[in-house]
Order: sequence, then C-alpha cells, then structure tokens
Amino acid sequence: MTSTLVTGIGELTTWEPDRPVRHDAAIVLDAGVVAWVGDTADAPATDEVIDAAGSAAVPGFVDSHSHLIFAGDRADEFEARMEGRPYEAGGIRRTVRLTREADDATLLARARSLVDEMRRQGTTTVEIKSGYGLTVHDEQRALQLARELTPETTFLGAHVVPEEFADDPDAYVDLVTGPMLDACAPFARWIDVFCETGAFTVEQSRRVLEAGAERGLGLRVHAGQLGESDGVLLAVELGAASVDHGTFLSDRDVDALARSQTVATLLPGVEFSTRQPYPSGRRLLDAGVTVAIASDCNPGSSFTSSIPFCIALAVREMGMTPREALHAATVGGARALRREDVGHLRVGATGGLVLLDAPSATHLAYRPGVPLVRRVVG
Ligand code: NIG
Ligand code: FE
Repeated sequence: MTSTLVTGIGELTTWEPDRPVRHDAAIVLDAGVVAWVGDTADAPATDEVIDAAGSAAVPGFVDSHSHLIFAGDRADEFEARMEGRPYEAGGIRRTVRLTREADDATLLARARSLVDEMRRQGTTTVEIKSGYGLTVHDEQRALQLARELTPETTFLGAHVVPEEFADDPDAYVDLVTGPMLDACAPFARWIDVFCETGAFTVEQSRRVLEAGAERGLGLRVHAGQLGESDGVLLAVELGAASVDHGTFLSDRDVDALARSQTVATLLPGVEFSTRQPYPSGRRLLDAGVTVAIASDCNPGSSFTSSIPFCIALAVREMGMTPREALHAATVGGARALRREDVGHLRVGATGGLVLLDAPSATHLAYRPGVPLVRRVVG
C-alpha cells in the first residue's frame, strides 16, 4: 500500500470543527486513510504526489440510500409520469418479477456497474438495500450480493407486499419478521421498511422494525414519500438512524426530528423523477434537524447514481446553500449510517478524497450535469 500526497489544493473541505475549509492545502492518504493535513509548503515526503494545481477537493460522498440489486428498468413508467401519471408504490412488483428471474451473476454485475458509476461521480461509501426479492431465498441472496460491494447492507423485505400475499398482508409481515429475518440478518447491518399507503401500515412497520432491533440490526425507515404519515414519528420513537424521503412532513414531524438523533435523508432524485414537490431542506436545517442527501438509486422512483446531481437539486429546489448540500452529502450521509470514519477528511478518515475539475465545491451545484470529478483518491 502506498502513501499519496495531494498538494496545491485550492479549496480543501475537511470538515475539521475549527477549520472546515482550507486554502492552498495539502493532504496525505496512507493506504487510503488520511494521515496528515496541512499547508502545501509543509507537506511531508510520500510514495506518490498528485498536484491539484489549485483545484478543489472534497470528502468522498456518502450515499446512504440505494436499491442496487435489481433487474430490468422502468423507463416506460417514467415516460408515463412525464405525461401526468402519478408515481405508485405498486411498480416495485414489476422489478420484483424480473429480479427473481435473474441469476446471481447478472444481478451482481448490474449492481457492481452502478457502484462503479457512483464512484466515478465521487461516491466512496454506499448503502445498498434488498427489497426486490421478497422471498426468503431472494432477499437473502440480494443481501449476500450486496455484501460483496459494501458493508452497509439493509434488509428491506418490507418493501411492498408481494403479489402472492396480496390477500393476507399480515401473513407476509409474519414471514418478514420470522424466517426471512432469520435468513437475512447475518448479511445485513440495517433493517428498513416502506411505511406508506400501498406498502406497510404504521403498525406493520413497527412490527418489522422491532423484530429487526431484537436481532441487533440498526433501523431505517422510508416515510413521508407520498403523503404525511406517522411513519416519521415511529422512526424517531424507535431511535432509527434515518428516516428517508420526507417529501411530506408535518410540523410535528420536524419538531420530533429536531429533538432526536434521527437524520432526515432527502432524496431529490425522487422528486425529480416523479414530478412531486421538493421538500424544504431549509425548513429542516432551520429547525436544527441533521439532513442527509442520497440518490435512492433504483429503477422506479429515482434512477440516478449521481450525488453531484442531487447536490445541485438540493441547492436549486430545496433551499439549501452549496455548503449545506455538500455537508448533507458527506457528513449527513455518514451520520445517517452512524459512521464516524467517512464523510470528512480529518486525520483517520477512510472515505477517500474527491479531486474536482473546479476551483471550489460550489461548482458542484453551479455547473449541474457537468462531470466535475477528476479523480477519486483512496
Ligand atoms: O425509495 N419508496 C420505496 N422504494 C423506492 C422505490 C422503489 C421502486 O419504485 O422500485 C424508493 O423510492
Ligand atoms: Fe428507497
């Protein structure tokens, strides 16, 4: 393993508490771990040197919400939405059918290529959910495949009630909280539930989350995507690490989040792809809520792998400043995954550094759609 010095960084965002941004800075990564940060003039000798020539560098993005184990796509649904049809949770079942038919190698190759696509756009930490298998076997294999790509794996057997249980959703919840959880827990760090009309009720969601917690899994919740619901309060009550979507939040939800350790993870790619209203990041930040931004990369509601695109949307459509959006995509994502070692560039950080083809990180939002990631180091 080599040590790498990046020198001449015009603007280096480290998120150090007393000095979150440095100018004309240098940084050393030793075997991918930040070993030193300082002025270019004081830089130590290393095996390899990269001259940033005045460009900006930021921590590797932390994408804390994605669904990458799937087959097929649903471009036809996107087209229909752009003609005015609403997004419906039921589309998930189409992807379930195709995913069950696909072999492991096909699913893994697809997921791996999406992780590579993410990395080229600066994402170095990614969470991956199951949720397109919905049988004991298919959920377990989704998590086994996801584990090949990331330690941040999430069991989402409670994504939607599959067709074969349409007449008896509670029996499906029995399966999810029983044999499916038994098979999946060894391959998961987290458990998640889609608490929404058309998916799972608040009571069903509580059962799923409590069963997961008993098995030692951390909690995450999809809530408030299609309308306000008590799913957000449930997430806070149970101490979930993150409640995701939050397209529709009541004042009570925002107050509860502000008083909790639960991160609000906003997914602007979903509002983009479903033509729903964007939630206000401003409202959450002003209330003191910790905000993360993630891609939600999936074939239905948000088929983007690009955190820079999500940052641009958060700035333009969610009332966040470029700095706040960058913070949400790095520190926010790390908090949503309860990780201390990623999302920053302080000594000891393991999430790598993203060198931009730009003089400042503001360009991530100022130049939307432009491939600004020159290189990912570490
Ligand atoms: O996070 N909301 C639930 N699950 C995904 C959508 C999955 C799909 O439509 O296939 C989401 O948006
Ligand atoms: Fe999701």
